[in-house]
Amino acid sequence: MTDSLDYAAIEHEFGLVLAPKRDLVAVRGKGALLYDETGREYIDCAAGIGVASLGHAHPAVVSAIQKQAASLITCPHILYNDVRSKMLKKLVEVTPENLSRAYLCNSGAEAVEAALKFARLHTRRPNFVTAMRGFHGRTMGAVSATFTPKYREPFEPLVPGFSYVPLNKIDKLEAAIDDKTAAVMLELVQGEGGVNLIQADYIGAARELCTERGALLIIDEIQTGFCRTGKFFACEHFDLQPDMMTLAKAMGGGVPIGATMLSAEIKVEPGLHGTTFGGNPLACAAALAAIKTFQSENLAQRAQDMGEYFETRLGEKPLSQVRAIRRLGLMIGIELKHKVQETLAQLLERNIIALPAGANVIRLLPPLVIEKQQLDRVIDVLHECLA
Ligand SMILES: Cc1ncc(COP(=O)(O)O)c(C=O)c1O
Repeated sequence: MTDSLDYAAIEHEFGLVLAPKRDLVAVRGKGALLYDETGREYIDCAAGIGVASLGHAHPAVVSAIQKQAASLITCPHILYNDVRSKMLKKLVEVTPENLSRAYLCNSGAEAVEAALKFARLHTRRPNFVTAMRGFHGRTMGAVSATFTPKYREPFEPLVPGFSYVPLNKIDKLEAAIDDKTAAVMLELVQGEGGVNLIQADYIGAARELCTERGALLIIDEIQTGFCRTGKFFACEHFDLQPDMMTLAKAMGGGVPIGATMLSAEIKVEPGLHGTTFGGNPLACAAALAAIKTFQSENLAQRAQDMGEYFETRLGEKPLSQVRAIRRLGLMIGIELKHKVQETLAQLLERNIIALPAGANVIRLLPPLVIEKQQLDRVIDVLHECLA
């Protein structure tokens, strides 16, 4: 039943529309599927831009939210809370070993802002090194850390002290880190920037250089975290122990929550940073249920297996429009020889929702619970559109 309102027109009239919109009003989701108001079914390879890794409306998350909403939704940081404490313990248990505490917030950009502030506080140094084509969010600090000039330049003057190095060039990184560098911040697979994979020797060198020169290493796992790349965190592919790690997106099973994970050495005194909503019991209940589900459904292994299956099957037919395929787990980039917009529209016509990553890369972030026949359907449509 529809109420015959023109939802798209209403959003354009009353909302600040900041992304290029697809002609689709999503009203319901289940697993890897999304439905519009007419009941048309889509396979959702955008997954809320990497949020719905557990699929839409996962029963464990739904039930945790329902239960918590009826019990306690908000609880300020001046009080302790049962669910928050359990979620913190669980989060520290699943993240790399040397990360021993978490600052809880509500989004990726907030997690990045906190990491930048904590790095300046801990090192008493002003500067940051990040990667070209990296993306860390839209708030003033996070956008200062983000390379893409079109995101940064209209908002200048930004936070000073940022420099950008090409990914996987050790000599450039070595030249950029000095005694004024508070931190190096990197994604292990650049999501927005084109699904670019970091090389093991590069991240190894980054870890060593930071330790040698007294800078912190911050790994932004906002998009790669929570099983997306075939490990619980992408750090595990490299046996990497960062000084801080930023998390959000899939963490809450769809509910907004973010975290900045800290090693034991990094201390932040009360009053220096804070948040009203961060760590609220509703989001913590969702995150606790989500993390337990990532574990119990062994979704890291599933991402690895399904990612391999996808790449093998996709490669079975010639794809004349494709320049390269880059992938880690179910974080997939298909670089085209041309711009992506028309192909994204063709996919949507065939009921597949996909994302761009830069001008000519199709990015697929399907829910990790996607069923094999649903993935087969995505592959068949890609064969059809990219031949
Ligand atoms: C790697 C990375 N960092 C930070 C962010 C910003 O997160 P949010 O949009 O939740 O502020 C994103 C969002 O796409 C991201 O992919």
